[in-house]
Amino acid sequence: MLAKILRQKFINFFVQKHNHKEIPSSSLIPENDPTVLFTTAGMHPLVPYLMGEKHPQGTRLVDIQKCLRTDDIDEVGDATHCTFFEMLGNWSLGDYFKKSAILWSYEFLTEELKLNPDLLCVSCFAGDENAKKDEQAAEIWESLGFVKNEKAEKNQKKRLYFYGKKENWWGPAGQTGPCGPDTEIFYYNGVNKQNPYEKGGPAENNQWVEIWNNVFMEYNKKEDGHFEELKQKNVDTGMGLERVTAILQNKKTHFSTELFQQKDTEKFLMEVLYEQMGINKAEITDSRTKSERIILDHLRAVTFIIGDQRGVIPSNTDQGYVVRKLLRRAIRHGKKIGINKSFCHILAQEFIKIYEDIYPELKKNEQKILTEMEKEEKKFLQTLEHGEKEFAKIATTLKEHNQNIISGRLAFRLYDTYGFPFEITKELAKENDLEIDEKGFKEAFDKHKELSKQGAEQKFSGGLADNSKEVTKLHTATHLLHQALRSVLGNHVEQKGSNITAERLRFDFSQTEKMTEEQIKEVEKIVNEQIQKSLPITFEMISVDTAKKAGAIGLFEDKYAQLGNKIKVYKIGDFSMEICGGPHIANTNELKNFKIIKEESSSAGVRRIKAVVGK
Ligand code: SER
Repeated sequence: MLAKILRQKFINFFVQKHNHKEIPSSSLIPENDPTVLFTTAGMHPLVPYLMGEKHPQGTRLVDIQKCLRTDDIDEVGDATHCTFFEMLGNWSLGDYFKKSAILWSYEFLTEELKLNPDLLCVSCFAGDENAKKDEQAAEIWESLGFVKNEKAEKNQKKRLYFYGKKENWWGPAGQTGPCGPDTEIFYYNGVNKQNPYEKGGPAENNQWVEIWNNVFMEYNKKEDGHFEELKQKNVDTGMGLERVTAILQNKKTHFSTELFQQKDTEKFLMEVLYEQMGINKAEITDSRTKSERIILDHLRAVTFIIGDQRGVIPSNTDQGYVVRKLLRRAIRHGKKIGINKSFCHILAQEFIKIYEDIYPELKKNEQKILTEMEKEEKKFLQTLEHGEKEFAKIATTLKEHNQNIISGRLAFRLYDTYGFPFEITKELAKENDLEIDEKGFKEAFDKHKELSKQGAEQKFSGGLADNSKEVTKLHTATHLLHQALRSVLGNHVEQKGSNITAERLRFDFSQTEKMTEEQIKEVEKIVNEQIQKSLPITFEMISVDTAKKAGAIGLFEDKYAQLGNKIKVYKIGDFSMEICGGPHIANTNELKNFKIIKEESSSAGVRRIKAVVGK
């Protein structure tokens, strides 16, 4: 079964059979959420609704979310890991719970996808000092014929395991918030289909591939670390599209599916690339596989990040740094397997063709994707050149001192400062009869990794989609600012981006000229007037047409408009009306006052304002 059909079946199953509403994939780059770099799961864009905010489409949702995870980047190259992937998810926002979720997952897998039930096994939460063993979920699985592993006969199929928090618990995504036990569903993708448990279950044998996770968000983790039961119990599920596609086609890996084949000819993308590069296929050996997979995975991810509705280009910070890292890693692996010309754009063009039907933003941003890739490729090749020169200097100095070992510190400097891949340092060392203190390099590398990990954790620990009072206030202030800018500068002002931390708001909007002092003062004055008026903030669920006619501003995403019968529109008195998911404060007087602290250029035709409230 093709990925295309799997996507359709999933949506249809939940929409038609189980009364869900389809919602579109959100951007890969979270808006209003400075605490994570990328959308890593379908639940990220839904956090406010999991916390109790009313969703305009109701309490049963289904979607296919573009996701990106860089934490297991080192695993990419094996059969199952991806950086970019699509997550199929169904959601209950305080609606159905464990029973329906599990029964429907099983029904979908065995009846719609026709997976052999004997090759499925499941796991449930084993319980600990914070939360009890999930016997409820286990009983539902037992009603479907699964048997607890400890009670299993020798040839028992359909086994049920209990694992601890590491495996069977999800969240909270930040430090506090909704979380709960989950139940994972695995499929045996090994060769011994008669006896899938020969080498054990999922904990012992990685031929058991995790395909679907059902999270039962029944707890709220509090700041003091204790878990209280949530009033609104949610279900958050995530199924990996790539993994399931591979399984349905009886392939060991998703790289062997049509997701990595040229759309019209069905040739595998690496073959297409080798042909265009004039590389002889006969020379391609198995040992190249890992590099090939890294190239394919990373370039697909980069195509999606640059081509996203809120696309990001390579840079040295935040998401841009990840794009740069992925691209450079792909280029380096290209070099490793003998590609010495620029090649990224060739694969990007193929990915755009493969995915444009489902993600039209890729085609729309094609030129940007190709240009940015080309620029980065050129830059990196220069970097490599600088690194080679630096290497030559190191080699000369060492020889002058009759030494032949490159210290770990120097090798790491080449890597870190010059972006010079360690493998290349090794190759050059060999050519120059030099050795490298690999242990020293590894130590320097690990130290660096630990520091950047701490940085990432700090970023994360702010709490996912921080729903703190401060952020909520600044969110309301952003609506006031948006409307005030339109009043002062004109109706060409549209939101181009928004980023809120507990300290300040940051708002990007379409406007070419720098704002004058007077305009800035005027905008501040208007916002402060609305604060003084103590305007109530309310929302309504209305149709897209009604919202447009009423003059609501905000992002009418095309697909959203097509899908949603009703959307949520927030009103601040009669001053502002904007499409938005929330949350907001109840009254403008909570803001006390508003001040613009910076007005600057963001990019061509886009200005950026930073502002604070209540100071
Ligand atoms: N949030 C869960 C996951 O990412 C289920 O969607 O696995």
